[in-house]
Amino acid sequence: MTDYNEADLQQKAKDHLWMHFARQSVMEDGHGVPIIVKGEGHHIWDSKGKKYFDGLSGLFVVNAGHGRKRLAEVAAKQAEELAFFPIWSYAHPNAIELADRLAGYAPGDLNRVFFSTGGGEAVETAFKLAKYYWKLQGRPTKHKVISRAVAYHGTPQGALAITGIPAMKEMFEPITPGGFRVPNTNYYRAQEMGFEGSIEQFGQWAANRIEEMILFEGPETVAAVFLEPVQNSGGCFPPPPGYFQRVREICDQYDVLLVADEVITGFGRIGNMFASTTYGFVPDMITCAKGMTSGYSPIGATIVSEKVYEPFKHGTTAFYHGYTFGGHPVSSAVALANLDIFEEEKLNENVRENSPLFRAALERLTDLPIVGDVRGDGYFFGIELVKDKATRTTFDDDESERLLRGFLSKALFDAGLYCRADDRGDPVIQLAPPLTIGPAEFDEIEGILRGVLTEAWTRL
Ligand SMILES: Cc1ncc(COP(=O)(O)O)c(C=O)c1O
Repeated sequence: MTDYNEADLQQKAKDHLWMHFARQSVMEDGHGVPIIVKGEGHHIWDSKGKKYFDGLSGLFVVNAGHGRKRLAEVAAKQAEELAFFPIWSYAHPNAIELADRLAGYAPGDLNRVFFSTGGGEAVETAFKLAKYYWKLQGRPTKHKVISRAVAYHGTPQGALAITGIPAMKEMFEPITPGGFRVPNTNYYRAQEMGFEGSIEQFGQWAANRIEEMILFEGPETVAAVFLEPVQNSGGCFPPPPGYFQRVREICDQYDVLLVADEVITGFGRIGNMFASTTYGFVPDMITCAKGMTSGYSPIGATIVSEKVYEPFKHGTTAFYHGYTFGGHPVSSAVALANLDIFEEEKLNENVRENSPLFRAALERLTDLPIVGDVRGDGYFFGIELVKDKATRTTFDDDESERLLRGFLSKALFDAGLYCRADDRGDPVIQLAPPLTIGPAEFDEIEGILRGVLTEAWTRL
């Protein structure tokens, strides 16, 4: 492993590096920032040589695991042969092959692939395309978008208008107008949304809130609904049975496009290339990024149905939108090799087979007083922390600050597990490990969580 000068790096970071979604004050108060220098399989190492379990695949990204020489070699070879060429009026073989490959994986007739460099741009692309599509249909007033409370869809101002986390938006207001929010599918908190009944009924109820919002705003003003198959922010909300079937019906009834934001759920996270397949629905567009290359190079894509693409087949109509690095030759080559690894090593099958065991390992934690709920699907779980299990009382802002930022994040990391303690909704621990792991690693994750959560309770 390369030798790093920790003190020198910390000083340079303090002087010059602006981290994302983070308090810069950690640089000032002497703690510094953890510096990660190496990855291998489901492990990462910091600059002091300490090894950690990567329980979040970096950031829901390194699905095939770290340290794949094959992907590094493919990237190097492609950079040598053709490092860059745009897909603005030209093409290159890898972007063509990758578009073909993604179209093959996508459900239904989602056959047309518009590349970007990441997830937020893919969402931005879908938002602009939805508005333009309706204008081309002679229905220019259809421009509003509906999404769910606490959902995260990215940081460009359009994607931020779709994001349902007020605290992430208020400092940038006014953002792109036209975003409207409906309830998410957090069954654990359904009563607080005014719902009582079975999970199947909850699915219908939650889907019907979309219909209600379309009617509130007027169907002639609504362009699209953006939904993650499993909502990440808030702590992993899978769809109740029948939810997406009802949403599809509603979208068809009112001529509203259904966009599945699969930036996290795509590429094996839920045990299929796309989670839309897992949940048996066909959206009009899929947005994806992260796991497409397992992070060995950045790329994103918006995959579009024949219906939405149709007006662009003809005459002078063009989608005046794009990104210099969209469909980058190196990233496209890496994506193709990464997807080969998925096929050869049967990563989707591994997730489907082992997901129930992962769930069972995490559910053992429900014997702890602080663990209110364990939920998720595939290799993607959230553990909701509560102050009182019987009443499901959550922590107030101060407690949340002390618990999550003051203790849990650091304690988990110190105990050798990199994962995420998040309070964009109620406090949760999020887990999304590489798709290569199995039962032994589930037990290891459970063991670390058990120790730290037990201690957390004593500190409340
Ligand atoms: C569902 C979803 N959409 C969009 C994004 C934005 O992706 P990016 O950070 O690549 O712009 C994310 C990022 O985590 C996401 O989880």
